[in-house]
Amino acid sequence: MRSNKLTALPCHIIPAGPNDVPQAFQDLKRDMNPDFVHVFLDKLQRYSVKPDRALFLAKYQGKYIGFATVINQSPAPDNSDTATIRLLQKYACGTGLMVLPEFRHKGVASKLIQQWHIWTLQNDLSGIWLVTRQMSDWYQRLFQYTFYGTTIRHGVKKTILTKSLR
Ligand SMILES: CC(C)(COP(=O)(O)OP(=O)(O)OC[C@H]1O[C@@H](n2cnc3c(N)ncnc32)[C@H](O)[C@@H]1OP(=O)(O)O)[C@@H](O)C(=O)NCCC(=O)NCCS
Repeated sequence: MRSNKLTALPCHIIPAGPNDVPQAFQDLKRDMNPDFVHVFLDKLQRYSVKPDRALFLAKYQGKYIGFATVINQSPAPDNSDTATIRLLQKYACGTGLMVLPEFRHKGVASKLIQQWHIWTLQNDLSGIWLVTRQMSDWYQRLFQYTFYGTTIRHGVKKTILTKSLR
């Protein structure tokens, strides 16, 4: 992971509980499609309470500026073969990552992704996987994720990436 201490934003990453959700929703929803903010709120609420998943929030000067979500045992992509299903059962799944536009390129997502990895190991999982449409090269270049395959979701081709942590 690259790092540039001169420009890194001194934000804090917190594992969120339900009490953090109302402010997080207010601070972060402005970058969401207005038609889907209710889906975002539902996601924040579920990830802040359920024991099989986590919501991490990046906080800077009293405001939430980014989030990441991770889940244990998310179902493998449609049409996965048995080997893939077996592998992904041992992996956590990164299911959401966003930093508000004005705080990007300052290492905030890098700190959030580090929390994915810590959470994965704390939960005795061997690695992490995720599905992305546009950020495949970014994850591979900066965080050493590996191309695993592709999947079609809602008619859109997406890339499956994995990273072994053991
Ligand atoms: C993708 C996204 C989460 C990246 O967030 P970010 O906070 O800008 O990411 P980081 O700053 O950690 O890393 C991005 C850049 O900062 C650099 N960087 C990393 N650590 C740094 C640090 N400590 N100080 C300064 N720069 C740093 C990286 O080299 C990287 O450079 P590059 O992307 O120009 O090659 C953000 O652009 C976003 O929210 N996009 C929209 C939602 C999205 O696409 N989410 C991913 C879905 S799969």
